[in-house]
Amino acid sequence: MPETYHNFIDGRWQAAATAELHENANPADVRELVSVHSRGSRADALAAVAAARKAFPVWRDMPAPARGDVLFKAAALLRGRADAIARDFTREEGKTLAEAKGETLRAAQIFEFYGGEARRLGARTFVADGPGTFLYSLREPLGVVALITPWNFPIAIPAWKLAPALVAGNTAVVKPATNTPLTAVRLFECLAEAGLPAGVANLVFGAGAELGQVFADEPDVRAISFTGSSDVGKGLAARAHQRLVKVQLELGGKNPLILDESGDMARAVAFAADGAFSATGQKCTATSRVLVPRRRHDEFVDKLALAAKALVVGNGLDAGVTMGPLVDEAALRRVLGCVDQAKGEGATVACGGARLTEGDLAHGFFVAPTVLTGVTPAMTIWREEVFGPVVGVTPYDDFDQALALANDTVYGLAASLVTNDLARALRYVRGIEAGLVHVNSATVGAACHVPFGGYKESSSGSREQGREALEFFTQLKTVYMDM
Ligand code: UN1
Repeated sequence: MPETYHNFIDGRWQAAATAELHENANPADVRELVSVHSRGSRADALAAVAAARKAFPVWRDMPAPARGDVLFKAAALLRGRADAIARDFTREEGKTLAEAKGETLRAAQIFEFYGGEARRLGARTFVADGPGTFLYSLREPLGVVALITPWNFPIAIPAWKLAPALVAGNTAVVKPATNTPLTAVRLFECLAEAGLPAGVANLVFGAGAELGQVFADEPDVRAISFTGSSDVGKGLAARAHQRLVKVQLELGGKNPLILDESGDMARAVAFAADGAFSATGQKCTATSRVLVPRRRHDEFVDKLALAAKALVVGNGLDAGVTMGPLVDEAALRRVLGCVDQAKGEGATVACGGARLTEGDLAHGFFVAPTVLTGVTPAMTIWREEVFGPVVGVTPYDDFDQALALANDTVYGLAASLVTNDLARALRYVRGIEAGLVHVNSATVGAACHVPFGGYKESSSGSREQGREALEFFTQLKTVYMDM
């Protein structure tokens, strides 16, 4: 029987108020139970908010560099344990071991970046209209913040919300995705061992709908940062807006990659394959629509299909595997449903398009990397996020049309252009409606020291990551001091 893990509230691992447990299975092989977790409810969320509120004054008043030191220590622990954490991560989420380890090291890097920011927090002084007035602004923490994090980046996203929140002097309650509770435990173990005072960061498992309502309604929660699906994010924001608390949303994407007449074919194929199939396509930054000049279309599709078929799909713990399973059965059904619907609406499957069940694969949620052709703006798959290893290819006739097609979506997270034409690159950078714009690189990926977020319905509220993340987790105080 695998180990049982509890909520982390007020510096202690505590069983939830109800005796209910959640069984955390391996999506690569459901016969394997990875861990068992307390199922938190409203009472646990309230206890966590109360603990965070109690811890706030002391943490806020601690000099910021001392807060940063805790992050540096946690980063060192993450680095030291990266191999062990990556194994648990792969077993519960499905990513390959290399992807899981890379993301664990990325979490360490995020902690290091914000640990350093602790010494760069500051405010501004201004000239004043009056002769003896000292006029300046301060950035102060908000208080208790609630962080609702997704399963697809179970360590990097909790880290990139927690680190700026904590370094700015807030205290936090984290609600990790139900599919990936163990990775969250491993992150919190590092924070606790790094000397984070009791109550400063709390971890509560449970159903998003129930816990989200507590965070939206509870007066002590001063901000909510959420990454996940658009429907859930919009509902949460509408509710929290009744109290006018800050809400930051990172939602979906329908990210385009354009190859132009001048762009390198091999690189375009590599970026499309990386963008569409890494992490089994389960990234909000995943490439899902590829736009190719009509005369280059067939060659591109042939090469992308070859790249897709070259991927080794299997259990992410096995050496040589380059693409893991989908996260759960619901995801498997949804992805296969999207492919069927696309076929019904007239798209053609160039490769993949089906579940993989050979041998041990039958025990997991595996689908073949899938390339669809003949995808048009009239189809559902053009508009709706699939969140799986499925990419559609569409031919175009001139670059203005490609740009218009790329922007034909309610989303605006990431976009790529593969080109060797500088003027075209500049025109695209100006015209593309996206927050993360790539030229000759894949749509996926996010450096920790630069702002991350999208245009249109992909994001709302200020940016995550980089120094910009500190804006969301602070409020401005302007001081007129007459001497
Ligand atoms: C990346 O592309 O490496 O949930 C980051 C997501 C995004 C993060 C993507 N918020 O997929």
